[in-house]
Amino acid sequence: MRRLLFIAVLIAGLTPQLASQELRLPNKDGSVKFGVLGDTGTGGSDQVAVAKELATWRTRFKFDFVVMMGDNLYGGEKARDFQKKFEIPYKALLDGGVKFYAALGNHDDAAIQRNYKPFNMNGERYYSFKPQNGVRFFALDSNYVDEKQLGWLDKELAASGSEWKIMFFHHPLYSSGETHGSADLQRGLLEPVFMKYGVNLVLAGHEHFYERIKPQKGIAYFTLGSSAKLRRGDLQKSALTAYGNDTDYTFILMEIVGDELYFQTINQKGTTIDAGSVRRVGKVEPTTTRTAQPVVPQAKPSPAQPGPRQEKK
Ligand SMILES: [Fe+2]
Repeated sequence: MRRLLFIAVLIAGLTPQLASQELRLPNKDGSVKFGVLGDTGTGGSDQVAVAKELATWRTRFKFDFVVMMGDNLYGGEKARDFQKKFEIPYKALLDGGVKFYAALGNHDDAAIQRNYKPFNMNGERYYSFKPQNGVRFFALDSNYVDEKQLGWLDKELAASGSEWKIMFFHHPLYSSGETHGSADLQRGLLEPVFMKYGVNLVLAGHEHFYERIKPQKGIAYFTLGSSAKLRRGDLQKSALTAYGNDTDYTFILMEIVGDELYFQTINQKGTTIDAGSVRRVGKVEPTTTRTAQPVVPQAKPSPAQPGPRQEKK
């Protein structure tokens, strides 16, 4: 019987009121460092403010790439729109060699965006990439979860072995948003595959707020659709919510060191609103009735969680 990676996660060391502009990530040499943006494509001043702050943080935390969870361009998608809603806001990052990897949202034209070189989609609606040995990202098209995409995903995950498996796409499978809420249809199709292969982390957008979901069936979920738009008052904190914010424009910095993924969520003013880590632990033998673990191990503080770093301003 095949062994599957036990991908139960542990969220540890969280303090809602993080006073600071301190870097709360280990910032280790050789780690996988990346940024997370969602629902960016307005070309407005709030997108620009978040972009500027993200570029400022890169002077201290040298992430190599950014994942985008869709709604990359609202409205027109002509060359001048790509300039206004992407190239100009993120110019400092693009000039600094940061790569962007996009997933498609409901406002995005797949035919145009998948062929737009700076989105690194290689002409596909869904794709995977491996920034480093041991870590693999999967960009899905949650607008159309058809048989073909599911077949591709199954094959890719089967081949990914013990790597970290990180999904990013537009529609959140779990959400406490009043406007949209959980994407039940997509969840019904995707969650069984995620569990079968031990997906560790799922990043989504669509909701114009930030919500860190309590681990569901051993998988960590973040929703971040507030990198340019906000829907204030829309987050109806629920039993799903570990932490949420619908008043700030935000991005996330993430870093993978071994079996620990650290995150720091920051607003447009550079203030940290959430931080902590997701840990993958252990392994489990599948049984005839269970293909992956439905159980999260006993919660305990992660010994690897560092204290705040004392950065000079
Ligand atoms: Fe959307």
